[in-house]
Parts: sequence; structure tokens; C-alpha cells
Amino acid sequence: NSGGRINVAIDGPAGAGKSTVARRVAEQLGYIYIDTGAMYRAVALAANRAGISPGDADRLAELVKTIDIALEPGADGQTVWLGGENVTAAIRTREVTLKVSEIASHEAVRMRLVEMQRKLAASKGVVMDGRDIGTHVLPDAEVKVFLVASVKVRALRRYQELSESELVPIEQLEQEIAERDRSDESRDISPLIRAKDAEVLDSTDLTIDQVVEHILDVCRTKTAEA
Ligand code: DC
Repeated sequence: NSGGRINVAIDGPAGAGKSTVARRVAEQLGYIYIDTGAMYRAVALAANRAGISPGDADRLAELVKTIDIALEPGADGQTVWLGGENVTAAIRTREVTLKVSEIASHEAVRMRLVEMQRKLAASKGVVMDGRDIGTHVLPDAEVKVFLVASVKVRALRRYQELSESELVPIEQLEQEIAERDRSDESRDISPLIRAKDAEVLDSTDLTIDQVVEHILDVCRTKTAEA
């Protein structure tokens, strides 16, 4: 029994504001926020540490068989655990960011993580963000949003998130983002693509609050029907 709860799928390219928006929507609804990108990042970190190259399908398949990833919702965001170690910060380095898209292109990796994601959403009441949530992970999600923004705005947002030691020219970030878009959109398995029944929201000229309010409106309507 889902008790009138629904599932919310928020997909879109890197830097469109998915995680901030999804976290706030979850908070407002009293739902659990699940950042699936963090799960792929945790696999990328584990692979990196084990010296597994992002193209090594066999060793990655072995790795995900036993990998222990846990997401813990908290007041100031989500804590990510890898085998009992808090890796919340470690999965956000550029090194991980540059490798994660290729890691996420492997079927064995995706199958394992999707299985975990569906379990997390089984009782409803989750807001999940990623690339393939509306199309593949939760095709029955009651609310589906495809959040987009211009490459320029997304690069600027990423730039503002970088620590001083990581600062790189904004043009380079724009290139990296465009490259990751291409890679996420062109992979064979579950590429980044809008679900037919997802609403496209362009956040380029909207504030976070406006995006959140809009999604909450849609959710309230759906919850009333659920
Ligand atoms: O949202 P993010 O930047 O933290 O995601 C990291 C990478 O993981 C991104 O390059 C695409 C991949 N990803 C994916 O393939 N499927 C998802 N559901 C979420 C993320």
C-alpha cells in the first residue's frame, strides 16, 4: 500500500539542476531523495581505486557483484557510503566526473544499479534523479520531469561549485559538459533521452524556487488522484 504516495522521476543532462531541485521537492513532500548519479559515481570511485580502467567490462562486472553502496538521506543532503566509508565528497572530484560516463555505459553496471534503484522505490514516496529514471528505472512514475538548461548556464553553475584547488577555465567546463552530454546521449543502453510522457522544463531562465514550485504543483495534483 503506497498510502497515496507517488514516485517522481527527474531526468536531464549534467548541471541542469536536477539534484538541487529533486532534494527540495523530496523535502517538501516528506519523500526520500535518491541521487542515482551518486551511485554511478561510487562505482567509478571504487573502480578507480581498484585500478580498473573504465573500459574493462569484465572487471567492472565483477566489481558490481559485491559492491556495497548505501545512500543515507539527511538534513543537509545525502550521505553516500561505499563499503562503510563516507565517500560523499570523494565521488565529486573531477577525476571521478571525467570517468563516470564511460563506467555508466556498461550493461552489467547499469543492471546492478537499476535493480538497487527499483528496490529503493518499491514502496513509493521517492524523488529519484538521473538519466534513465522515467524511461527505464521507473517507467510507471506518476510524475516525470525532464530538466534542461543551456550548456553555458550549466558550466557556470558547475564552475561556482568547484573548490579553489579545482578551478579550471569555464570554457573547459563547457567543453567537458558538452562532451558528457554526447556520451550520455549516444550510449547503447538506456541513453539520456526524454520519456514520451515527461514534461520538459527549461531552467535556463528560471530560479530554483520556480522550478521546485512548479514540480510541487504537479505532484500535489497527482497525489490527490493517487
Ligand atoms: O548526475 P551526475 O552528474 O552525478 O551523474 C554522473 C554520471 O552518471 C553521468 O555521466 C551519467 C551517469 N548516470 C547514468 O548513466 N544514469 C543515471 N541514472 C544517473 C547517472
